[in-house]
Amino acid sequence: MKILAIETSCDETGLSILEVKESKNKLSFKVLATTLASQIKIHREYGGVYPMLAKREHIKNLPILLEKVLTNSNLNSKKKPVDLIVVTSGPGLEPALWTGIVFAKELSQKWNVPLIPVNHMEGHILSPFGANAGDFEIPLTENKDSSISFPILSLLVSGGHTELVLIKDWGKYKVIGQTVDDAAGEAYDKVARMLNLPYPGGPEISKLAEKRRKILSFKTAHIPVLGDCYAQPVGLRNAFKTHNLSSSFKLPRPMIYSKDFNFSFSGLKTAVLYLIHDLKVANPNVMENQDTKSDIALEFENAVVETLVHKTKKAILKYKTKNLIIAGGVSANKHLKNEMNKMLKNLDFETQVFFPKKELTGDNSIMIAMAGFLKYTKNKTKIYKNIKAEGNLKLK
Ligand code: KG4
Ligand code: ZN
Repeated sequence: MKILAIETSCDETGLSILEVKESKNKLSFKVLATTLASQIKIHREYGGVYPMLAKREHIKNLPILLEKVLTNSNLNSKKKPVDLIVVTSGPGLEPALWTGIVFAKELSQKWNVPLIPVNHMEGHILSPFGANAGDFEIPLTENKDSSISFPILSLLVSGGHTELVLIKDWGKYKVIGQTVDDAAGEAYDKVARMLNLPYPGGPEISKLAEKRRKILSFKTAHIPVLGDCYAQPVGLRNAFKTHNLSSSFKLPRPMIYSKDFNFSFSGLKTAVLYLIHDLKVANPNVMENQDTKSDIALEFENAVVETLVHKTKKAILKYKTKNLIIAGGVSANKHLKNEMNKMLKNLDFETQVFFPKKELTGDNSIMIAMAGFLKYTKNKTKIYKNIKAEGNLKLK
């Protein structure tokens, strides 16, 4: 069957048409056409996503993108081009979500095809199994080919969410930990603004941190080891101590040792604010120094990643999960990937990690198609009435 997937939860308008098939062990997908209209340039001026602007852009983009995916799939909008429509209903920005839902409802009536609401976070969970071109599949059961085994642990890290989810089976989720304030991506975006870097801040901070990490690792590699790491210059001591190259600044790792699986990134963001304030008192022009900015970016990234890795490890050890899914915009972060892989290598048992392809780390409609079709296969006759935007929709 053919399905149309629509995503408008934040600042990306995404539409895809996929040909899907189900068998006992897997769901198979073929991407017929996919589009993604990013509004980053528009929101950049405001330093973040402006909900009413996002709504306006989605309304403008949706009919244009629909024509595009229909044409690219050689389908005719006058006839019934698809058998099923799936749309993100939450969580996200409600004015933005409504645009996709209203558009999807109209098409569902016009073509007389069922409409299924999708949880955006379930889309992120499934994103590592997707591709934005060609064929791909979701393994459904534990078998030697699929290499998945439940429960699976998932770390979802995006601009709106930071949560650890225990997946008992596809469609059966338990959130075991989450941020008590800012999401990891949100902290990246806010700290980027303090460093005068453009929105979205994640990739910008990450670039600066990555460069600084390379320079420090070069310096570290070229300093003769004098028997004791304390013989090294102050700025490099921490690098030897923690084996995790760090800048000369030290920021907190909030809640890292709390007994639960929750996170907090608001205090870290405030610590960066105070650090910049103190540095400016000593030297008003300090933030014009690229090295200072990079040092802050590096220490901030180290603090975020250390916390995410520590809590994920704790959850793996508690639930003995053999599979780990890391998804959401922040899962594009190289340092997070490296440190997560390092942590997994040092475990006593093997845990396989799945990251999405770079193009599917952020919001997209391919992942919504996957979550929607999965939901459809669980109950094919269910009719979803009164579908509405739910900004705080939870995974369950
Ligand atoms: O999943 P996503 O595209 O949208 C939401 O559902 O929120 O995530 C966007 C977030 C932004 O906060 C962005 O700064 C962050 O993901 N991000 C990154 C990186 N790429 C995107 N954060 C850290 N490192 C990156 N490379
Ligand atoms: Zn998202």
